Amino acid sequence: MHLLLLNGPNLNLLGKREPGIYGQASLATIEEQLRGEAKTEGAVLDCFQSNFEGALIERVHQAMGSTQGILINAGAYTHTSIALRDALLGVSIPYVELHLSNTHARESFRHRSYFADQAIGVVSGFGAMSYSLALKGLISYLRAEA
Ligand code: DQA
Repeated sequence: MHLLLLNGPNLNLLGKREPGIYGQASLATIEEQLRGEAKTEGAVLDCFQSNFEGALIERVHQAMGSTQGILINAGAYTHTSIALRDALLGVSIPYVELHLSNTHARESFRHRSYFADQAIGVVSGFGAMSYSLALKGLISYLRAEA
């Protein structure tokens, strides 16, 4: 099972960026832990972060044919990017949307997601643990489908 973790803009700053909201863990730490958790489940996890919408879209395109599921924290693109939504739907790869913070408990502009209605599920508000919960959900969904 090949899976892809996508992180959008500013998530490269995790650990330094608003730690009261996003926590102390760096993205490298989260990615390393998640790769280990995926391996334990017999899956291979690729990780990709970009601050550029087009780069994220191109990585989604590349996943076609080789990746069974996607975990995505699109950062602020969650609330703005129809293009990234179209890319995810265009490759027909099931995905889980995730957020460190509970976006529904924050500013109203964070309440809208362009991905949530087409996602397998959404995990939001559990800090770095959101990544693990999303991974578990994705793997269990893919196993049930197989
Ligand atoms: C975020 C929530 C978004 O609203 C914000 O723009 C982010 C991070 C989260 O993980 O909580 O960059 O996706």
